[in-house]
Amino acid sequence: MSNIKAHFQPSRAPGIPQPPENVKKIKKRIAIMSGKGGVGKTTVSVNIASELAKRGYSVGILDTDITGPNVPKALGLMKVPIYATDEGIIPAEGPLKMKVMSLGLMLREGDPVIWRGPLKAKAIEEFVRNVQWGDLDYLIVDLPPGTGDEPLSVMQLIPLHGVVLVTTPQEISLMDVRRALHMVQKLEYKPLGIVENMSYFTCPGGEKVGIFGRGGGRKLAQEEGVPLLGEIPIDPKVVEFTDKGIPIVIADPDNPVSRAFKEVVDKIEEILSQAEES
Ligand SMILES: Nc1ncnc2c1ncn2[C@@H]1O[C@H](COP(=O)(O)OP(=O)(O)OP(=O)(O)O)[C@@H](O)[C@H]1O
Ligand SMILES: [Mg+2]
Repeated sequence: MSNIKAHFQPSRAPGIPQPPENVKKIKKRIAIMSGKGGVGKTTVSVNIASELAKRGYSVGILDTDITGPNVPKALGLMKVPIYATDEGIIPAEGPLKMKVMSLGLMLREGDPVIWRGPLKAKAIEEFVRNVQWGDLDYLIVDLPPGTGDEPLSVMQLIPLHGVVLVTTPQEISLMDVRRALHMVQKLEYKPLGIVENMSYFTCPGGEKVGIFGRGGGRKLAQEEGVPLLGEIPIDPKVVEFTDKGIPIVIADPDNPVSRAFKEVVDKIEEILSQAEES
């Protein structure tokens, strides 16, 4: 675990300014990433954030998916106004007092965002520099799919304490997530570990069916020498609660999905506290 600490203040590309104090003073900053779309990054982001908030931490969520900003919907913040003051933008308040910033909060439903890379980077920089997060214990950064402009901007602008990689067990997802993992390592960040989402479906008779295959996340974690943070089952309740805007760890804490998220957060806390001690 000692090499995690070595990555607490990663080297910054030349010309990239230091982050402002308001970001530096957030105690732990974690990005949720995947090379692949639709594997559950946003679901993992809002549930990790909510589980941390349930444990009494002050938590912020930054949605850096500029063209598909789903965090407000997943947190029931569809018609919430955003205020700007002389000091900066005030984030919206989500469940459990989580502070939320997303371009989705500034758009009307159905408005498309047709922006090229530099403009997306500018929007992310604006969020990083001008949002008044206050004293946060954790900032969870939800990334869009891939290894393109937004993940690069985030990793260059926000010194991260770790990156969580999300995959499904399917070979095609693992391939893209391996790429994302290598990007993280190239940028000299430490991956916190892999979350395998949509691991299996439990039939009414109790049989566990691997709809997208079985064990892919564990295999990838072993091959790459990174921790497997958890295996999250498939449950239609995830879809139901997401559409209602309540993360499942809040809406149904005893659901096996919620229990799996609790284990993921236990592991994240353990890894980060070991890194601090070393
Ligand atoms: N464990 C799960 N069980 C059932 N449905 C799930 C689970 N995880 C995610 N989903 C559903 O799968 C879909 C994709 O999830 P999500 O939006 O979190 O993925 P994403 O990786 O953020 O997608 P994008 O790449 O578009 O940002 C959503 O409809 C979500 O509700
Ligand atoms: Mg998403």
